Amino acid sequence: MEFEKVLQLRQSTQKYLPKQISDDHLQALLDVANRVPVGSKLYKDIHLTVVQNQEILYDSPMVIFVSHRKQELQPGIEWANVASVVNEMHLTATNMGLGSVYMWRFGNHAYDNGT
Ligand SMILES: Cc1cc2nc3c(=O)[nH]c(=O)nc-3n(C[C@H](O)[C@H](O)[C@H](O)COP(=O)(O)O)c2cc1C
Repeated sequence: MEFEKVLQLRQSTQKYLPKQISDDHLQALLDVANRVPVGSKLYKDIHLTVVQNQEILYDSPMVIFVSHRKQELQPGIEWANVASVVNEMHLTATNMGLGSVYMWRFGNHAYDNGT
């Protein structure tokens, strides 16, 4: 897909079909996550956890959790690095015709009023 088109089509998906993505698509997402720009090349401090279980997960067939080891020397770089990973996976999902959403937290939609 043209890059401009990917940017135009990108949106947050809140409802998902009860269908798992293909292994190829999952691999493509993980490959992208492994080569995004990351501050201080802290790849070894980033961990991806793929959970595929629609019954327990926010009604979505798959969630990729992105965790980052706390950085004492560069406080806050964890957040920037995780954002870099998530954003590129979100755009890659769009490029592959998959719905996705960038989630700050889990459990409900009331994330933007501090609850
Ligand atoms: C850093 C960040 C955190 C977000 N956290 C959540 C979230 O916890 N739950 C959610 O439903 N959407 C979340 N979103 C998605 C935004 O609500 C969404 O991108 C915004 O409303 C614009 O809609 P669009 O992505 O469809 O253009 C988050 C987006 C970003 C960039």
